[in-house]
Amino acid sequence: MKARNVTLRLANGGDARAIAALSRDLIEHGLGWSWTPERVARNLANPDTSAVVACEGARLIGFAIMYFGDEAAHLNLLAVRAEYQRAGVGRRLFEWLRESALVAGIAVVRLELRASNRAGRRFYASLGFEETGFVPFYYRGRETALRMALRLRAATA
Ligand SMILES: CC(C)(COP(=O)(O)OP(=O)(O)OC[C@H]1O[C@@H](n2cnc3c(N)ncnc32)[C@H](O)[C@@H]1OP(=O)(O)O)[C@@H](O)C(=O)NCCC(=O)NCCS
Repeated sequence: MKARNVTLRLANGGDARAIAALSRDLIEHGLGWSWTPERVARNLANPDTSAVVACEGARLIGFAIMYFGDEAAHLNLLAVRAEYQRAGVGRRLFEWLRESALVAGIAVVRLELRASNRAGRRFYASLGFEETGFVPFYYRGRETALRMALRLRAATA
């Protein structure tokens, strides 16, 4: 289905439960549930973290959470409900955070994802991310992570 009338806004504490459920089902499936509602809520309340959600009406259909350090940001989570995928929602979510990162003076955005996640790898590659290395046993001591990075500007010396 192609998404229509999908709007983006900053996430708030009331979104924690829906974000956690989507993380469990779309990102962490088969690994256990580490992004519980409590952990998501803590992230949303962290002033160094920015989170954006995509909604169709009152329904939360996608989200992204990014931690902002001094020069590097880390994209913690990003997902779009299956029936809304391939309609540009994921790209819009990331673009929001990329704009925020540019304003914040971030030099590089980093992330990890399951190396087996082909769709995710293609998605991030389409946004300009490059693959920077594999980390065996990263997830629950049994699944390999792929690290990816997007340079926004040259790092200061
Ligand atoms: C990865 C994910 C976030 C992409 O979201 P999306 O809204 O479908 O992505 P978009 O529609 O914005 O796609 C942008 C581009 O990324 C690439 N892309 C996205 N999904 C792809 C797929 N399944 N296969 C190949 N390329 C893909 C394409 O180049 C696409 O552009 P196009 O549709 O014009 O060809 C979504 O598939 C998802 O939520 N997956 C489950 C969770 C996950 O893996 N999250 C990432 C790791 S945390």
